[in-house]
Amino acid sequence: MRSIYLIFFFKMTFNEKLSKRYACKQMNGKKLPQEQVDNILEAIRLAPTSKGLQAFEVLVVEDQKLKDEIFKVSAPGQPQIPNSSQVLVFACYRDLTEQLIEDHIKLVQTSRPMLTDTHIEEMRQSMTWITDRDAETNFQWAKYQVYIALGFALAAAAVEEVDSVPIEGFNPEKLDELLNLKEQNLASVVMMAIGYSNKETDYNAHLPKVRKEHELLFEYL
Ligand SMILES: Cc1cc2nc3c(=O)[nH]c(=O)nc-3n(C[C@H](O)[C@H](O)[C@H](O)COP(=O)(O)O)c2cc1C
Repeated sequence: MRSIYLIFFFKMTFNEKLSKRYACKQMNGKKLPQEQVDNILEAIRLAPTSKGLQAFEVLVVEDQKLKDEIFKVSAPGQPQIPNSSQVLVFACYRDLTEQLIEDHIKLVQTSRPMLTDTHIEEMRQSMTWITDRDAETNFQWAKYQVYIALGFALAAAAVEEVDSVPIEGFNPEKLDELLNLKEQNLASVVMMAIGYSNKETDYNAHLPKVRKEHELLFEYL
């Protein structure tokens, strides 16, 4: 009874968990339990995207040799990578092809069998502007959305009390070459390492948060 009371007493709110998360600078090489990894991946899957298209894929790098190669070849300034449990590589479609749009429409049909053919056709017509645009414009558009998924993943890691760090400081061309992303119509945009902090070398673990004051960030109109 007493322990139930203590668990209840110490349950952190979402914002308390967010205030405890930070960009981890050094990890210790320990593997995370699969359930926690899966919960973070599920948050990415549930992230909203424009038109629901999910115009990206996420590579979950677990292999030690590959993590070492990513660090060596494309991100030598990011020592978290080799000692992480997993590195998530967020990669957007280089070209949002008609086939990808059709695949999405099929997914809508199977997920929502109540929709009529007219609904589906209206949806198809409402998306022609996407394939009418050039590939680079759609790639930039997909990039905004992958960052929402990254945000969900960071928040999910905080909820799981898993240490994490978003990583933009890498050479995307070199990473794409290493992971053969171009051949898969993908281009890397951002990474996220998850695992356990090395409390002795992770200098960020003990530093206070730096954030604008509420009044500077928000304007009430
Ligand atoms: C999109 C993005 C890219 C980032 N890239 C890196 C990175 O390459 N390496 C790194 O150590 N931290 C990186 N960070 C972490 C930020 O420096 C950190 O989130 C910021 O200073 C706020 O600190 P906090 O996350 O500890 O609260 C990145 C953060 C974001 C959101």
